[in-house]
Amino acid sequence: MAGKLMHAVQYLCYGGGAAGLKHVEVPVPAPSNGEILLKLEATSLNPIDWKIQKGMLRPLLPRKFPFIPATDVAGEVVDVGPGVENFEPGDKVVAMLSLAGGGLSEYGVVNEKLTVPRPPEVSAADAAGLPVAGLTAHMALTQTAGIKLDKNGPQKNILVTAASGGVGHYAVQLAKLGNTHVTATCGARNIDLVKSLGADEVLDYKTPEGAALKSPSGKKYDAVIHCAAAFPWSVFEPNLSEYGKVIDITPGASAFWTFAVKKLTFSGKRLVPLLLIPKSENLKYLVELVKEGKLKTIIDSKYPLSKAEEAWAKSIDGHATGKIIVEP
Ligand SMILES: NC(=O)c1ccc[n+]([C@@H]2O[C@H](COP(=O)([O-])OP(=O)(O)OC[C@H]3O[C@@H](n4cnc5c(N)ncnc54)[C@H](OP(=O)(O)O)[C@@H]3O)[C@@H](O)[C@H]2O)c1
Repeated sequence: MAGKLMHAVQYLCYGGGAAGLKHVEVPVPAPSNGEILLKLEATSLNPIDWKIQKGMLRPLLPRKFPFIPATDVAGEVVDVGPGVENFEPGDKVVAMLSLAGGGLSEYGVVNEKLTVPRPPEVSAADAAGLPVAGLTAHMALTQTAGIKLDKNGPQKNILVTAASGGVGHYAVQLAKLGNTHVTATCGARNIDLVKSLGADEVLDYKTPEGAALKSPSGKKYDAVIHCAAAFPWSVFEPNLSEYGKVIDITPGASAFWTFAVKKLTFSGKRLVPLLLIPKSENLKYLVELVKEGKLKTIIDSKYPLSKAEEAWAKSIDGHATGKIIVEP
């Protein structure tokens, strides 16, 4: 591939939104030690991608400009670097690129450690939805909320907010693999969809009951997988069971404050900020669930790479139902 050029979409500085994305021809990257070069078939967007562009992770990310964003990809192995043991050219895989990005392009380099095989039953688009959104839902439920996804374990009442979004739609389905009663919030247009994903009861977030996060059946939540924007603690508090946890995947300053106060006062009810730590064994597990038909990726929309800025604008808009996919 040395010297070959590829189509990629990058930005040159912080800010600018969709208009800040530029289509360029750049050299195909070469895989180094432990890395794999993929011909990309699908890339999914996550809000973190445009948040990095906005400068919300400044000065950590991006590490340098110009920057090719997006991390969640599915594709075919075309070359492997030294030391790669488990993959060879021709293998279909799903992978998570490092936060150095590279997903909005025709080819991308991934680390073998965050790459898993993709069986033929799982489409590239369905697989590309999984890394950030699926792994976050999985981590929140299994690691933080302590749900066993084999129905073994005590019954727990779970609330998933923004259940129509990328993380939320996986969280509802995964939660129902455990011994759970799931309440979910979403907009009126997605109530039937979220019910079809397995939610036992669904609240329209624009109604007074939805805004108050009140379970229609009067359940108190043992865990809230909080995927919507910030809510004051006073909204969560009356809805939690004695040892109920709010797992906040978009924690701001007030969430960290609540986390500290609840910990220092030995409160039974807690707020837990969550940051994804991706693990390949969990990604493999999610791919297997999709293969078995136990988990599905709801696809909001698909865009060719030539229209990546439309996909970007859709993600910034914040009203996707499921995942936004870009296809090189
Ligand atoms: N901590 C981590 O490691 C981590 C990992 C992944 C994601 N995140 C963060 O988690 C958040 C969610 O990510 P995502 O990918 O799921 O986002 P997303 O797909 O963009 O979420 C969009 C969905 O949220 C719904 N929604 C918006 N506000 C709502 C509300 N108040 N109540 C109920 N539903 C609401 C929208 O419904 P309508 O269209 O009907 O409004 C839409 O369907 C983002 O802030 C993201 O950055 C953090």
